[in-house]
Order: sequence, then C-alpha cells, then structure tokens
Amino acid sequence: MKVTFGMTAVSGRHVVARLMAQDAFPADLDATLREAAGAGRFAGKPGQTFEGFTGSGADFRRIALAGLGDAIGDARLSAAERAGGALTAKYLTSGETTLAIDFAGSGLTAAEAAQVLLGAVLRGWRYDIYRTKLSAEQKVSLTEVIAVNAPDGTEAAWATESAIAAGSALTRELVTEPANVIYPESFVARCEKAFAGTGVEIVVLDKAAMTDLGMGSLLGVSQGSVREPRMLALRWKGADVAQPTAFVGKGVTFDTGGISLKPPAGMEDMKWDMGGAGAVAGAMLALALRKARADVIGVCGLVENMPDGNAQRPGDVVTSMSGQTIEVINTDAEGRLVLCDALTWVQRTYNPARIVDLATLTGAIMVSLGNEHAGIFSNDDALADGLLAAGKAVGEKLWRLPIGPAYDKLIDSPIADMKNVGPRNGGSITAAQFLQRYIEKDASGKQTPWAHLDIAGVVWADKPGATWDKGATGYGVRLLDKFVRDTLEA
Ligand code: BES
Ligand code: MN
Ligand code: ZN
Repeated sequence: MKVTFGMTAVSGRHVVARLMAQDAFPADLDATLREAAGAGRFAGKPGQTFEGFTGSGADFRRIALAGLGDAIGDARLSAAERAGGALTAKYLTSGETTLAIDFAGSGLTAAEAAQVLLGAVLRGWRYDIYRTKLSAEQKVSLTEVIAVNAPDGTEAAWATESAIAAGSALTRELVTEPANVIYPESFVARCEKAFAGTGVEIVVLDKAAMTDLGMGSLLGVSQGSVREPRMLALRWKGADVAQPTAFVGKGVTFDTGGISLKPPAGMEDMKWDMGGAGAVAGAMLALALRKARADVIGVCGLVENMPDGNAQRPGDVVTSMSGQTIEVINTDAEGRLVLCDALTWVQRTYNPARIVDLATLTGAIMVSLGNEHAGIFSNDDALADGLLAAGKAVGEKLWRLPIGPAYDKLIDSPIADMKNVGPRNGGSITAAQFLQRYIEKDASGKQTPWAHLDIAGVVWADKPGATWDKGATGYGVRLLDKFVRDTLEA
C-alpha cells in the first residue's frame, strides 16, 4: 500500500474517510449523512465504521466514517491504528483503488495520525501470489492511501512508522511462504535481498562452519533433512555502545516432528515454525530502515526437522556448542535444540548485554494462554518489565510465567547433562529451563539478562484482527521495535 501526503482538498472520486471521536461528528459533515450514521447506530466507537454517499452523477462520492472512541494516551494510539485498519479492511477489495483519509477536524496529533496510516497499511497486507484464479471481486483493488489535511509532523512520524510496516511485511511474507519455498538457504537469500542497501551487516554460517564450531545440537535436528542448515546474523550498529543487544529466533522452516513424527492433522501449520526467526528478521529491518540509535544483532537458527534414514533417533545423545550434552528423548522438541547452539554462538561471538529469544516453542503455551498473549520467561525483572510494557503499548501482549530450580531439575537426564523434554505438565516452563541452561555467567557469576518469548499461539491467526487478515500476524516486530525505542534509545 502506497501512502502519500500533501493534499488539502480531495479531488477525484476517491472514497473519503473522516475520523471522529465518540459521538463527535465533524461539524462540516453532510446533514443527511450524519442522520444516516445515527440511524445506523454508528457512534464513533473504536473500530466502528460507517459508509454513506454524497452527491450524484459527476459529484457522487463514497464517504466513510471511522470511530476513534474516547480513549486517551497509548489507548488512543491503538484506537487510531484500529480505525486505519478498519478502513482498509472495508475497502481492500471494494473496487476502489484510493482511500483518502481526511484528518480535518479529527483532533488527532501527528503521532496518532501516523498510527492511523500504520493500521491502514498493516491491515492492507495480503499475499495472493499463489492464487491465480481470483475473480475480479476477490482481488485487492486498494493500492493507495492519501493523507489529506494531516496534522503537521505526520509525514515525519510516518517515515518512522513505515519502517515498522516494512518489517512486518517481511515477517509475514517469510511466515506465509510454504516450506518448499522458504527453507534455510532461501530464508537467507530473501533476507539478503530485503536488507540490501540498508547498512545491515550479514553473517551466514553454513553446515561446515557450524560443524567446526561444534553445534552438534542444531546439526542433530537438521541431519534428517536434505536442506542444509544455516545460521544467519543481522547486525544493525546504530549506536556505539560497549555491548550489543541480541535477538535470537527459532527458524525451523518445517517441523514434521522428525522420527517422533507429528500426527497429520494440522501439520501444514508447521511451515510457520520459523515465526521467531521471521520476527527477528522483520524487527531488524524495521530498526535499520528507521535508523534506530541502537546496536542490535538478530540471529536466526535455521533448520528443517524431517524423518529420514539419517534422522536422529529418540535416545541419541548430542553435544552442543557449549559442551553440554543432551539426551534427545523426543525429536519433536527440536526448537530448543536449535536455539541452544544459537544462544551459545551469539554469546561467544558478540558478548551481548541482554538476549531476547523468540520461538514457536511449545503447544503447551496455547493451553496456558490461548492466542491472546505470548508467554515470557526471564531471569531479569527489568528486562521482563521492559518487554511487557512494550508489548502492552503496541498490542503484542505478553504474560510472564515462572522459572526456577524445581522446574529445572525436571530435565536432568540419567545418561547426559540434560534431556530435551520434561514431564507433560509445565511443558512451556521446562522448555524455558532448557534454554536457560545456555545463558552464560559473567565473571561475578551473574547470568546475562535473558528473556524467552514463546510465541506459538500468536504467530498465525485463524481469523482477521484489527491490523492483520487471517494468517501471519507479524507478531514480534512491533514489540521488539518498541522495546528498542523505549529501553535502548531512551
Ligand atoms: N513447533 C512445535 C510447537 C508448536 C506446536 C508450535 C503447535 C505451534 C503450534 C514444537 O517444536 C513442538 O513440537 N513442541 C512439542 C514439545 C513436546 C514434544 C515436548 C509440543 O509442544 O508438543
Ligand atoms: Mn517440534
Ligand atoms: Zn517446532
């Protein structure tokens, strides 16, 4: 979706949208329209829209009203975003090509107006490249949003928000593409293309390099697949600080479960088992495009988990890069086996000040939290609080769950240092405990601040939301970007 600025009066037959707070109809609104809206029980609540018409013949025009409600502060920003999203949802396949949003009389600030545009662009994202038989009515017609009478500063605010939209689009594309298209090497290739010219430094480890580094845990997952694994690091150095911040993503481009094969029903969902890596890539793109004043490294551990004559077996013992050994009880608990080597590598290579990992790690997190919140596990209250606040502000919500020694001992193994699964109960927590065993200590014995986000329930949506259609949500991009803004750049 293209966004343009500068117009002060709408010319042409575009749909014109007006934004209004609850019960606050624009003073210059056509009287019939206003009556019709009232009769249609439109009151300007958040997410509410109404469509009416003015004129006829050459003067005919569709007019849309979108509600902002009466929220204040951050809630007003999200109401603004919701209004933008509701407008593109309404006109995406309407036959209209251009939506003119007239901000006159809306009372919005520049930041809020930019949020309307962000909502509009995010909700307008679709990936129809494989749908060759769409009828004209099913095809996206809307290609442009014109901001009319935007408050001073909106264009500058949009320059920042558009970076988020681009990052989110990259994440959604990577998540949406099927696993015959996106596998470790092609994930890297897409990123190389997306990051060209952004100033992001890219490092790629191939199988030989990972073998040399002793990443036996990640390589054990990958050995049943004909697709070669990759480790991808994306560095945006927008500030000169002693230690960078690391984001680490699980990038299992398809998870069959391996020899511990998953049941067929719903297995196609496992194309999005790289949602953590996708979020990391998208967040890095957002940071680079808006030239964030922060030093951030995004690492994606990329493998495919397949059953095969060469696949690892339940009971196999592997040695991770850290030197710790793992008894692989269940080859379907592969995400942690990939992440542990990515965590060790990022710590030994870049010495980060803090680490946030994102992973579609457990089905159990959906039993706990459904599809509304992602789970957060952390060894550091300040880091956890920063992420919780960022998620709340942008609507990518988190809920903190406990970790501790009593859970940790559930993954002790009789033959190796640990096993890769604990008992059924508390499955998301023992997965987090496993990862925590790979967080290294400084000279004083303190672990690096670390947070693990289990995003299995929020990467993919069965129904449309305020700023996404059904399918890939892009979860994580805005959360990480907001965290960087409020914590690293503040
Ligand atoms: N990728 C899955 C988790 C998952 C399940 C994500 C459903 C999204 C939707 C993960 O690799 C997995 O298979 N986890 C197992 C762990 C178990 C074997 C301990 C699970 O959750 O069943
Ligand atoms: Mn699995
Ligand atoms: Zn998985």
